[in-house]
Amino acid sequence: MSTYRRFSDASVSEKLLDTMFLLAIGLGYLFALSNIYITHQGYDGKKGLSVQDVSISYHGKASQSRLAAAINGPMEVNLPNLAAKKTMLDWIQHGAGKAEFEAKIHPIMKENCVMCHSAASGISGIPHFDDYEHVLPLTKTDTGASIPTLVRLSHIHLLGISFMLLLVGRIFILCEINIMLKRFIMAAPFVFLILDISSWYITKIFPNFAYLVIASGAVVGITFAFQLVVSLYQMWFYHPNKIVE
Ligand code: HEC
Repeated sequence: MSTYRRFSDASVSEKLLDTMFLLAIGLGYLFALSNIYITHQGYDGKKGLSVQDVSISYHGKASQSRLAAAINGPMEVNLPNLAAKKTMLDWIQHGAGKAEFEAKIHPIMKENCVMCHSAASGISGIPHFDDYEHVLPLTKTDTGASIPTLVRLSHIHLLGISFMLLLVGRIFILCEINIMLKRFIMAAPFVFLILDISSWYITKIFPNFAYLVIASGAVVGITFAFQLVVSLYQMWFYHPNKIVE
């Protein structure tokens, strides 16, 4: 019968390296969660993150434009005051005419938005506010995140998170727990990561799939956290009698 490496076979140096990695990546994950909150909250006009916000992020909302959704939601912080927000919302409401854009709206954007929303900023995949023609489409009915945006986020997530799950899973393999549970906890986050990202595109078509986006994202998070906590615990505090066979 073959034997496999467990934490009891690992040197203190290896465990120290693993621990530092797990702590840093755990912290990174918490920042990723904060980022989800910041970039999705407020789309429905209410503070805080809701299923409705997630649905609008991907599917859009017929009664609201993308620009209005953004300045009610995550882009609000970039505006200097409520008056500027109201000026922009009124302008969208009244048909987004060109003369008013040049007189009132573009100055606000040049002051508060164009440092990011321009070709010169180097931020790819976000709309440019250099002139009226670029802004106008965003004042039409919100159809949710654009396909180029979803493709950009998909490739970043799949490449980044796969590596993270591989490295964390390699450490978690050294635990001693029920083998079926171990296999499930290792494989599940990959499956649900793919399901989560697929459900962004499905939500773009069917808004209620926002629930699947949230549920599958939660499974990734829970299984990842489980690996992290159990690994750290067993590495330092669990001393089984070593089984030779
Ligand atoms: C610090 C940089 C920065 C500033 C300043 C900024 N934005 Fe953004 N904006 C972004 C980024 C990055 C995204 C993409 C967010 C994402 O994909 O989750 C974005 C997304 C948007 C979107 C949504 C685009 C889409 O495809 O759904 C709109 C609309 C928008 N911003 C409007 C504004 C307005 C209006 C202002 C000024 C009041 C502003 N932004 C200021 C960085 C910025």
